[in-house]
Amino acid sequence: MACLRTPIFPTIITVMFVIALVALQGAVLHAGAADTFSADQPLSGSQKPLVSKRGKFALGFFQPVNSLHWYIGIWYNKIPGQVPVWVANRNFPVSNPELSSLTISTDGNMVLLDDSRSVVWSTNTMAITSSTVGVILDNGNLVLADASNTSVILWQSYNHFGNTWLPGGKLGRGELNGGSTSIVSWKTFSDPAPGLFSIVLDPNGTSQFFLLWNSTQQYVTSGNWTGHSFSNMPEMAPTNGYPNSMYVLDYVDGANGSYGLYDVKGDELTTRLILDATGRINVFTWTESKWILYWSAPKAQCDVYSLCGSFSVCTQGTQSCSCLHGFSEQYEGQWSQVFLMRKWFKKVAPVEGSLMAFRYRDVQTLTKNFSSKLGGGSFGSVFKGSLAEGTLVAVKKLEGFHQGEKQFRAEVSTLGTVRHVNLIRLLGFCSERTRMLLVYEYMPNASLDRYLFGSSHEPVLSWSTRYQIALGVARGLHYLHERCRDCIIHCDIKPENILLSDTFVPKVADFGLAKLMDRDFSRVLTTVRGTIGYLAPEWIAGTAITTKADVYSYGMVLFEIVSGMRNVRQRQDNTVYFFPLLVAMKLTEGNLKGLMDTRLGCDVDLVEVERVCRIACWCIQDEDSRPSMATVVQVLEGLVDVNVPPVPRSLDLVMEQSTYMEFSSELPSA
Ligand SMILES: *[C@@H]1O[C@H](CO)[C@@H](O)[C@H](O)[C@H]1NC(C)=O
Ligand SMILES: *[C@@H]1O[C@H](CO)[C@@H](O)[C@H](O)[C@H]1NC(C)=O
Ligand SMILES: *[C@@H]1O[C@H](CO)[C@@H](O)[C@H](O)[C@H]1NC(C)=O
Ligand SMILES: *[C@@H]1O[C@H](CO)[C@@H](O)[C@H](O)[C@H]1NC(C)=O
Ligand SMILES: *[C@@H]1O[C@H](CO)[C@@H](O)[C@H](O)[C@H]1NC(C)=O
Ligand SMILES: *[C@@H]1O[C@H](CO)[C@@H](O)[C@H](O)[C@H]1NC(C)=O
Ligand SMILES: *[C@@H]1O[C@H](CO)[C@@H](O)[C@H](O)[C@H]1NC(C)=O
Repeated sequence: MACLRTPIFPTIITVMFVIALVALQGAVLHAGAADTFSADQPLSGSQKPLVSKRGKFALGFFQPVNSLHWYIGIWYNKIPGQVPVWVANRNFPVSNPELSSLTISTDGNMVLLDDSRSVVWSTNTMAITSSTVGVILDNGNLVLADASNTSVILWQSYNHFGNTWLPGGKLGRGELNGGSTSIVSWKTFSDPAPGLFSIVLDPNGTSQFFLLWNSTQQYVTSGNWTGHSFSNMPEMAPTNGYPNSMYVLDYVDGANGSYGLYDVKGDELTTRLILDATGRINVFTWTESKWILYWSAPKAQCDVYSLCGSFSVCTQGTQSCSCLHGFSEQYEGQWSQVFLMRKWFKKVAPVEGSLMAFRYRDVQTLTKNFSSKLGGGSFGSVFKGSLAEGTLVAVKKLEGFHQGEKQFRAEVSTLGTVRHVNLIRLLGFCSERTRMLLVYEYMPNASLDRYLFGSSHEPVLSWSTRYQIALGVARGLHYLHERCRDCIIHCDIKPENILLSDTFVPKVADFGLAKLMDRDFSRVLTTVRGTIGYLAPEWIAGTAITTKADVYSYGMVLFEIVSGMRNVRQRQDNTVYFFPLLVAMKLTEGNLKGLMDTRLGCDVDLVEVERVCRIACWCIQDEDSRPSMATVVQVLEGLVDVNVPPVPRSLDLVMEQSTYMEFSSELPSA
């Protein structure tokens, strides 16, 4: 055995995101403003959100805090945390944003199509005769407008309130508002479906606004309009208390209907009124990088009607619900949510990126004291847990973590903003002294290695499933490398870090941990069993690590997806079997026979197999010759052809010493 040079590992670097105009998108970039979509240029989850003309609001697919569902929403483009101000498909989330789109249907309405091209939401406006487009405006209003003159508005989100009243919106009764007469809370802080609380203008004709429970029970009334304020809320008068009288509050009683108007002078002040899931109205302003609560009603949380449900008592002092004597809690944990949620969300702004901050005690409860271990990853053990509303989670207990709490929170909040259907979603974290934990969405079908190399009890993944897994992982990595705000190099791509959803959608796990674990990371990488076969040569050479290191590891995984075996195996006669080399040789011969996982039988698409083998071989070339993940995605999507690659130089050494020719006739026994 020769000696290897002692590895000197570089600090893993994070490169600022460089906007990459991928050729793939050439087709959809041809025209149109960044604030507009149309039938020709729909908005899908694989694209960047639309942004209003002066950049204040964004429109796109988003996931609410602690939700795994996707919605079309509007949020503040420049304020962290994707604070939603309007949601289109409140009752009908989609699960696959990449394949869903917001577009214009043949009848001119704005529609949301899911991955099976079914309409899940529509503006449902009748008798549209012109050609139309959708535009997100700088006041947060989404409009359906005449394509030839966008001042002609056929439908607008301002007439269809969600839980938020934005400045300029009119809430009232009668026809003035085109039908929208109430603000309706979300069901929970993570579910935009209509909840039990609403704000309406008295349908019986007075000028009072009511807060209602279940559409009938009044628990707050604004009082009548006095000419400059509402009688029960004098503090809301624009001249009282608000800075420089920037607010405008008005009530208009017209022939065609009446409405209240809440607005601001100029557009320097960013403010919103929201009816939250616990039945309170809150008015927030964005001041010095924080949401400041300016006003709320009712003042006491316990004054919300029926907050704790039937046969219960709400105690303001301790902020808790309890049962009347002789009754017991119907849904365990539901109440603690009411008050805990308030603490987390009060929309004290949550940690940047909208992650939930758990106390260690909470994590103990939700994992039943760490009783169900799912596995041991590179940086610590993973446990199964369950949030109060039943959502399953995977909790990772980080070990050997040496950074300070502050730095941990900063890194983690960046990871919280990473949202992609092929990346595991981080839901929250816990950092108490030396205890650092990460809370992730739970994947029922474990990781890819189990199906490729596991026992014969596991089902065989069909070729089309394998291809979708390869493509999904490529998309996830592409997003990490190029689409999110800071470039993230994964550094540890291997089948163990590719998790599978209930429908075998692949999700890359453990991204961002390399940076989080800093120096320890390189040590862990080289000592953890099973990782070394995926490491790019630059890890050994000690040169800088770039996104191309992930491309190399990804290529190694592709080979294993094809063969269903580890790339490196020792044969009985002690010679080493190295699958990538075999593929490289076979590709130059133009004959891929015998390479496939024998369990697949005839279930293969030879065009796709060749494509996968070619791109895999390109991925493990010298760093400069490796494709970007963007190119890999294009190749796998069949949009770009790829040449036969040369035998990678990194394999030369192996080739000199190997007896690869024997492989073709004799695969190693499993
Ligand atoms: C566009 O529509 C608005 C509102 O109807 C109208 O005032 C304006 O003149 C129209 N502009 C053009 C160029 O037709
Ligand atoms: C409207 O008036 C009717 C009849 O007086 C009353 O029963 C109802 O509760 C009132 N509705 C509201 C929302 O006050
Ligand atoms: C709300 O009211 C409806 C009828 O108006 C009733 O069927 C429903 O049970 C009520 N919801 C709750 C939570 O009490
Ligand atoms: C508002 O006005 C109506 C009718 O003018 C009256 O019945 C009601 O009591 C007033 N509300 C309050 C809170 O004073
Ligand atoms: C009231 O509605 C009628 C008919 O739709 C319309 O002609 C009129 O301009 C409206 N008046 C106001 C003040 O909006
Ligand atoms: C969890 O375990 C610790 C120590 O083993 C114990 O003190 C604590 O009471 C347990 N908590 C629960 C919820 O079981
Ligand atoms: C995958 O997950 C689904 C949903 O939990 C489950 O029904 C199915 O049995 C799982 N498949 C395998 C192979 O584990």
